[in-house]
Amino acid sequence: MPAIAIIGGQWGDEGKGKIVDLLSEKVKVVVRFSGGNNAGHTVVNQFGEFQMHLIPSGIFHPDVICIIGNGVVIDAAALLGEIETLKQNRINASNLLISDRAHLVMPYHILLDGLEEEARGSGAIGTTRKGVGPAFADKTSRMGIRVCDLLDKESFRKRLGFVLEYKNSILTKLYGTAPLSLDELYQTYCEYGERLAPFVRETDVIVREALERGDQVLLEGAQGTMLDLDFGTYPYVTSALSGGVSLGLGMSPAKITEVAGVFKAYTTRVGGGPMPTELKDEYGEILRERGHEYGTTTGRPRRCGWFDAVITRYSADVNGFTSAAITKFDILDEFSIIKICTAYEIDGAVYTRPPANSALLERCQPVYEELPGWQCNTSGIRRFEELPPQAQAYVRRIEELIGCPACLVSVGPGRDQTIIIRPIP
Ligand code: GDP
Ligand code: IMO
Ligand code: MG
Repeated sequence: MPAIAIIGGQWGDEGKGKIVDLLSEKVKVVVRFSGGNNAGHTVVNQFGEFQMHLIPSGIFHPDVICIIGNGVVIDAAALLGEIETLKQNRINASNLLISDRAHLVMPYHILLDGLEEEARGSGAIGTTRKGVGPAFADKTSRMGIRVCDLLDKESFRKRLGFVLEYKNSILTKLYGTAPLSLDELYQTYCEYGERLAPFVRETDVIVREALERGDQVLLEGAQGTMLDLDFGTYPYVTSALSGGVSLGLGMSPAKITEVAGVFKAYTTRVGGGPMPTELKDEYGEILRERGHEYGTTTGRPRRCGWFDAVITRYSADVNGFTSAAITKFDILDEFSIIKICTAYEIDGAVYTRPPANSALLERCQPVYEELPGWQCNTSGIRRFEELPPQAQAYVRRIEELIGCPACLVSVGPGRDQTIIIRPIP
């Protein structure tokens, strides 16, 4: 049976959490395969409203196995806190499993994330300061500490001693801050290791066996394509691949039969970097207030603008999206005119793909087409044919521009506030 990937098509916060919670009803396994607790996935269901940072958004379905795959970097304290919050809300996390190969976000990563941001000055990326970038950098430079290390205390102490000596010399000599204590860190992480041990597995085996049994597997992307390390607006990106699905959990790419891109009906971005359709006027303000566009992880106001079909078409191309989930459609309900950016222009030159160079993208001026708004409340509508003609035309135009058909339109944060066009799975 197939695996279905849910991938952010813009700059993150497209509503992936809602879509994954909704689709989890029909699957047996949900896997996070990238990012860390820089992600903030909101789920609104009969249990309340939850902000998921590391735990897959399928956790509300008691029969669904939820896996944090090897491609995720895990802040152990944050994960234990998330498990505790769920428990307090009577959600059982006993169906959670963690890859023994996942790397850990350590306290020095969090310190260095902040210090590096300060050092960048006006070129700051605007990271979430959760230590995710430095943790991925250590993974690549072979300085990482992994979940499996916590389970062997003797070798863990040696490994931590070696890594911390190096990290402390950066903290003290380069940044002039206090070093971290090896004993304290060792004790704390041994305790975390004991608490996490019951969840730890060779998760790639579990995914493979599930697929062999014929179970549906849902792959929950984090961040968005334009934050992808390779395809995003470098260097204003996060440190992982937003589409690196099969490597992030140890599965054949051939198993993925559906790749659904999640797209907000407009555009938002949180943090620094180019965003050609950003509206710094009252329209941007209206989108922010109506859409409650404040970061799920950091609370920062999100930058808002009209739908950018240049980046979304590019994103559909690089991910091979087979369908599009269009979210936050209801936020556009009151506009009399709605704009879509169909190309960029710099000094008369037209671009239909975002240039790789962020400095050039920064100079891109959006070329807009205007569509009439529908000016009625769509949040109670459940069938596509019941949407006003202008709203249907907006969806059809987006499909055309992105180049893939819409599978659903989301008209509110709740599970049921969804217009299904083509069921997946
Ligand atoms: P994610 O990171 O992609 O999971 O998205 P976030 O959870 O960070 O941000 C999406 C926000 O929009 C959350 O507050 C959701 O509850 C909310 N949301 C999702 N879909 C809809 C929708 O269709 N309409 C409205 N009004 N809110 C939505
Ligand atoms: P979800 O999964 C939106 C952004 C940060 C910053 C850049 C680098 O909820 O869609 P990092 O802390 O990752 O080093 O920051 O990436 N960013 C996100 N923006 N949604 C996210 O995740 C994000 N994760 C990281 O704001 O600009
Ligand atoms: Mg988010």
